[in-house]
Amino acid sequence: MKMKIVLPCRILSAGACAALLAAQLAVAQSPRAHLSLDAGWKFHLGDDWPDALHLENSGTGSGPASERFADAYWRVVNLPHDWAVELPFDWAADGSHGFKTLGGKYPTNSIAWYRRTFELPQDDEGKRIWLAFDGVFRDATVWVNGWCVRRHEGGYYPFGEDITDVLHFGGTNTISVRVDATKSEGWFYEGAGIYRHVWLDKTAPVAIAPDGLFVGSKFENDVPADQVAIHVGAHLLNALTNAALAVVNCEIISPEGKLLREFSESQTLPRQSKGAVKLESELSSPALWSPESPKLYKLVTIVSVAGKISDQKEVFFGIRTVGFDPTNGFLLNGRHYELHGTCNHQDHAGVGAAMPDALQEFRVKKLKEFGCNAIRTSHNPPTPELLDVCDRLGMLVLDESRLMGSDSENMKKWDDQIRRDRDHPSVAIWCIANEQFAVQDTPQAASVARSMQDYVQQLDPTRPVTYASPEDNVFRGINSVIGVRGWNYHYGPQMDKYHAEHPKQPNVGTEQASVVGTRGIYTNDQPRGYVAAYDVVWPGWTTTAESWWSFFADRPWLSGAFVWTGFDYRGEPTPYWWPCINSHFGILDTCGFPKDVFYYYKSWWTTNTVLHLLPHWNWPGREGEEILVEAFSNCKEVELFLNGASLGKQTMKPNSKLSWQVKYAPGTLSAKGFDDASNIIAETKAETTGDATQIQLTPDRRTINADGEDVAVFTVAALDAQGRGVPVAQNRINFTIEGAGKIIGVGNGDPSCHEPDTFVPNVPMRNVAVSDWRWQLAEVPHNRSAVPEYANNFDDSGWNTLNAKTSGGELTIKTENTTAIYRAHLTLTDEDLNGSGVQICFSGCDDEGWYFMNGQFVGESHDWQAQPIFDIKKFVRAGDNVIAVGVNNSAGQGGLNPNVNVQIIGHASAAPWSRSLFSGLAQIIVQSTRDAGEFKLTATADGLMLATAAVQTQPCAPRPSVP
Ligand code: GAL
Repeated sequence: MKMKIVLPCRILSAGACAALLAAQLAVAQSPRAHLSLDAGWKFHLGDDWPDALHLENSGTGSGPASERFADAYWRVVNLPHDWAVELPFDWAADGSHGFKTLGGKYPTNSIAWYRRTFELPQDDEGKRIWLAFDGVFRDATVWVNGWCVRRHEGGYYPFGEDITDVLHFGGTNTISVRVDATKSEGWFYEGAGIYRHVWLDKTAPVAIAPDGLFVGSKFENDVPADQVAIHVGAHLLNALTNAALAVVNCEIISPEGKLLREFSESQTLPRQSKGAVKLESELSSPALWSPESPKLYKLVTIVSVAGKISDQKEVFFGIRTVGFDPTNGFLLNGRHYELHGTCNHQDHAGVGAAMPDALQEFRVKKLKEFGCNAIRTSHNPPTPELLDVCDRLGMLVLDESRLMGSDSENMKKWDDQIRRDRDHPSVAIWCIANEQFAVQDTPQAASVARSMQDYVQQLDPTRPVTYASPEDNVFRGINSVIGVRGWNYHYGPQMDKYHAEHPKQPNVGTEQASVVGTRGIYTNDQPRGYVAAYDVVWPGWTTTAESWWSFFADRPWLSGAFVWTGFDYRGEPTPYWWPCINSHFGILDTCGFPKDVFYYYKSWWTTNTVLHLLPHWNWPGREGEEILVEAFSNCKEVELFLNGASLGKQTMKPNSKLSWQVKYAPGTLSAKGFDDASNIIAETKAETTGDATQIQLTPDRRTINADGEDVAVFTVAALDAQGRGVPVAQNRINFTIEGAGKIIGVGNGDPSCHEPDTFVPNVPMRNVAVSDWRWQLAEVPHNRSAVPEYANNFDDSGWNTLNAKTSGGELTIKTENTTAIYRAHLTLTDEDLNGSGVQICFSGCDDEGWYFMNGQFVGESHDWQAQPIFDIKKFVRAGDNVIAVGVNNSAGQGGLNPNVNVQIIGHASAAPWSRSLFSGLAQIIVQSTRDAGEFKLTATADGLMLATAAVQTQPCAPRPSVP
């Protein structure tokens, strides 16, 4: 039943304050808690518990999946975390994924476990508790308190579960996640692990469903005007065993924080059901969202049941129109808007795929510096926080699916992606897939594309759909049904022909360029895997920045395009293979340092005056040789000088660049840029520098938040005695840090650098097999009480023998409801006891066990699948030790599996952080702790004056999180 509550739309002025106050009160009263679950996970690399995927029974995960598993010596990591970035390089590994020792050939590096425990207060009883993963690479199995609650394969899709039923309210809860990154999904570096955020959401039984709010705006005829209709869709869940009348109240808050509208609807939700409520309102004179002016409104949705607030959620949204027109190309707010886009993978120096949100922001700002106004999230759905940044900073997004498919599983993923992302004003278009060479022209692919496209109409009729097609004038299969024809490469006359033959279909350059260049390198160097950065090297299927952009700039109907790529990324080393381990396609390198081509795009994609010369001017030994000098500029004319002597003035054609051949002499290469009236509007120079004498450290921000998440990104440079950056410096720099920060990664943009990006602590471990056992049927108390057979001095010489090597884990108790005791010896040295721990790992005890060491109780197990581990450091001594286990076999055959391993764990140590400069630069990323104050980073290198830089960490309210 649906009832309209009559609450006239009104502009609130005097009452606004009171209503805002009411909204704030609602936040406080709402039972919803959206808690970060990123901090304090335990991590173990290795598939050491292959049996943990047992599917025989419910609620009794084994190995790390079991609640009772001891993970005391596992490493502590905070999410997002990518273990692939921590692995070494190997020429025999998969180059397209960056030569990391991951995948089928490296089984011990390809499966890992994460565990996290948390307390739930008794007060939470009655709430619904949801566990949500933004993305795990890949193939995740999730247990909560030993219950397998989810298997999820796709590495780029969010997934979540209502885990209320299996939780201990008023007790400790354990989440275990097994991640299997053996298989890959793309042909580029993809990372490994829980590389996106994890959340714990607590709600009342009547609540807004996950991703259950949609807010859309619609102008009459889709042309911005004074009035805009606002549509809200609220999906609700009722977990109660009785029906509930849910009243949904929405408030719209202006970008300046003023309450503008309040409107309501209500609906009766039957017991244990889902329901959708539609609400409508309107706004006058809306502030439009655009990359240049990213105005965000806020929708506050409050759900009440029987006069009490049951849920409250806030969503930011933007008011704008997007469309693709066959003649006028992309339209933003009704006007032609050229897409200056870049394709990007989620991968950054130092951290790989695991990007703190602040780094997403850092990257988006870098892209904006050269006029990029759109990102294609190639070739997968993005991390949601990237979209938040794009909304806030003004960056359009082409939101791409990983694979095509109209099967229920793929459609579910497509549905999840659209529901999650559709409130973001930055998202301008959906993309069903990239380059499906084998099937794209078939009628089947056309049908699948149509199904995916039609589905978008149901969930989000405001945005068009494209497909990144690697074809020229082909109007078959997907291209014949897709709303917007996407063009991966194939620019040229074929595009014009296609457009003439299909004049009603809009177009967009989904992927162009793919020009390659290594930052600061000006000759191709195959042995080292470098390519010249002159915008002259491109693989066969691609072209230079200048050619593709000149073509697109002349054709507004093409809508602009997305360059492959904004940033370099690991994997796809092109055109050279090993030792090169990452791509060179970026306008920026993996750190975000600009390559020269950055200035080409900046010249033609921004209104700033640009004048940039390349190459650098440090060429000792090449005196008198001709060197190609280029100018990327948007000045009308550019005059070049060497040591003050003019080398000629040239006129710049729009969308082009200028070049000179210059006989090298050390000194100053300089240029002046002129406008139409021959006024000098820009000057630049490249000087021959001396050798490096000092280090320079420059953070991107001097103050960051003390929330344990924010990061400062430091540029590390080498300067000569006159303070000039030395473009060829390669010094190895060492880093130390003091205070409220921790280093999380280093990089330098060198596509062939095999130095580590992270310096994670290594914990030495020695394994001692305990395989020689004696056993005897005996009375065993079903509790922690000791019996004489557990004592060290008990004489077991007459007992049966059992050896793991010969028995192969044989079950020795043949009858049910029978008990037995097992005994073995363990010899340890003084040195063994000086480490950080000793733990004993059993590979199975059927059905129950009580474990004793030197006569003292160390733990118990009650599940034949469990592979219990006990910390025994405090129970052991140098010399002989006796392990005794009382076992109860309650069903079938049983006993102790004699394959037992003792781990002697040393002290963790990590090598000091360091990185070499590449073409004069390196990058170091420092994350705040939760302590307000400051941290000081110091950089040292042999023969160079050290540098220290301080960053303040300011007090802030950290993200609400699970303690
Ligand atoms: C495209 C592909 C991209 C990347 C690029 C390299 O065909 O879509 O993922 O591989 O080539 O030029």
